[in-house]
Amino acid sequence: MRVNGNFYRAVNWHVESGGVQWIEQRLLPHRFEQVVTIKAEEVAVAIESMQVRGAPSIGAAAAHGLALAWNEGQERFMEYWLPRFRRTRPTAVNLFHACNVMQLCAESNPQLSRMVECAQAYADGEVSANRCIGEHMAGLLAVGQRQILTHCNAGWLAAVDWGTATAGIYHLAQAGENPFVWVDETRPRLQGARLTAWELSQEGVACRIQADGAAAWMIAQGRVDAIVVGADRIAANGDVANKIGTYALSLAAREHGVPMYVAAPTSTFDAGCPSGSEIPIEQRNENEVLRIDGMDDTNRIQDIRVAAPGVLANNPAFDVTPYANLSGIVCEHGLWHA
Ligand code: MRU
Repeated sequence: MRVNGNFYRAVNWHVESGGVQWIEQRLLPHRFEQVVTIKAEEVAVAIESMQVRGAPSIGAAAAHGLALAWNEGQERFMEYWLPRFRRTRPTAVNLFHACNVMQLCAESNPQLSRMVECAQAYADGEVSANRCIGEHMAGLLAVGQRQILTHCNAGWLAAVDWGTATAGIYHLAQAGENPFVWVDETRPRLQGARLTAWELSQEGVACRIQADGAAAWMIAQGRVDAIVVGADRIAANGDVANKIGTYALSLAAREHGVPMYVAAPTSTFDAGCPSGSEIPIEQRNENEVLRIDGMDDTNRIQDIRVAAPGVLANNPAFDVTPYANLSGIVCEHGLWHA
């Protein structure tokens, strides 16, 4: 999608250096920077430290990083590099799908160029899935001044290009409709306020950031026509793990009869996981809750403490929404049924 009118992907192969390039998402919306590396370890660290985040982008970054790992020494690929990448984040199953795809490719003992092609094909597959999801979602969201609520960032930064939850919104906008988006700020890391609102603004889509706690009230007031979110892992019974706060949204949506959709490519489905209770939920560092960073009026990034010294925090990164709370799950093939 576009940044200042130019097209970018969240992560891609950098032909000039023979390396991996990604957008440094931790700097947004204050600074737009791309990072390039030829070292597999730096890609793994970029996933762990959330320079690259969002389930499909994590998978694509791992696929490209594993192509670099192949170049660094094939003898360490199976025993060291695959487990190294599989350990980077626990909840988004796209990571594991991407590692499996690269493992399968490596088993035929290919040239480096074949591993790179494999990673690129993986990322391209995610992008075309997102485009199809967008077409299906645009149909469901219908036309006119639709007020759509989204949580976290399931936009193109999270999904290589187009996004999953945002793909339908972008399709509507490109078709000349005027969707409006309520963007949950999404504490603690503020992916909504920092990333989704920035993305939508770059594409000229009207939006407004709101505190997470405002969402249920706006739903109750009839100010939300539909909710669309992404997913990090979907169990075989349709239970959905997504950013913390999604479950609470589903309760408000059900109570007030507002449709709530999950948009996700098939790489987010985990057929081997029977239900949501088996999905591993990432517990992240408590400093994400206790501290906050942002740009001050002199354009300096400041990191400050929010809570009193010594106070402890709880920081589960994801929750699980039961399938029964949803109006539907939309993948590239259309509406998915459990
Ligand atoms: O912790 P994050 O920022 O990687 O979590 C991202 C989300 O929860 C997204 O909603 C999800 O990955 C869907 S991405 C299209």
